[in-house]
Amino acid sequence: MQLVFATNNLNKLKEVQGLIPQHITLLSLKDIGCFEDIPETQQTIKGNAIQKANYIKEHYGYDCFADDTGLEVDALNGAPGVYSARYAGEQRDANANMNKLLNELESQPNRTAQFKTVIALQLNGKLHTFTGICEGEIITSKKGNKGFGYDPIFQPNDYSETFAEISLEEKNRIGHRGKAVQLLVQFLNSK
Ligand code: IMP
Repeated sequence: MQLVFATNNLNKLKEVQGLIPQHITLLSLKDIGCFEDIPETQQTIKGNAIQKANYIKEHYGYDCFADDTGLEVDALNGAPGVYSARYAGEQRDANANMNKLLNELESQPNRTAQFKTVIALQLNGKLHTFTGICEGEIITSKKGNKGFGYDPIFQPNDYSETFAEISLEEKNRIGHRGKAVQLLVQFLNSK
C-alpha cells in the first residue's frame, strides 16, 4: 500500500516514518511533485487536518493522511491552539513563538498545557480522523536542543525533562503525534 504523508516538515516525516508498518510505503509531498503551500484556513486543528488531506486527494488523486498540531495552554483559554505556527507572526519562527508564550505566561502560576494532534486519513474514498493528546506544562525557560517547534519549553507530565531533551523514540512513545499515529497504524493494520 502507498500512502502520502501530506507534510513538508522533515521532522514530522522522520517521526512518523519510524512508526508506520513496513508494508506501507510512505510518500512525501516531494515524491508526488507537490511543491505548493497546502491551504490551512480552518478555525480548528481537526478542520485543518481534514482540509489538507482532502486537498491532496482532490488535486493529486492519492490516498493520504495529513496532521495538524496545536499547543493548547489552559491559562490562555487554549491559545495558541490552531494558531500555534503563526503565534508570533507570519514568519513562523519557533524561537519567537516560544518567547511570546513565555512572556504571556510570566507570573502565571497555572502553566498546564497540552499538545493535540489530529490526523485525517483519506482512504478508499472515506475520511477517518485520529486524535492524540499529550498533557504537560510550559516551563519558565528553554531547555534542550532536540526536537522542534515548542519542544524546548514543553515538559510532559511525569517527566523532569522537556521534549527537546528526550530521545525521538521516547517522544514518539508518549507524545501527541505518536499517539495519533499509533491509532492510525492500528486502523491500517485492521484493514
Ligand atoms: P503544524 O501542525 O505543522 O501546523 O504545527 C503547528 C505549530 O506547532 C508549529 O509551530 C510547530 O512547530 C508546532 N509543533 C507541531 N508539532 C510539534 C511538536 O511535536 N513539538 C513542538 N512543537 C510542535
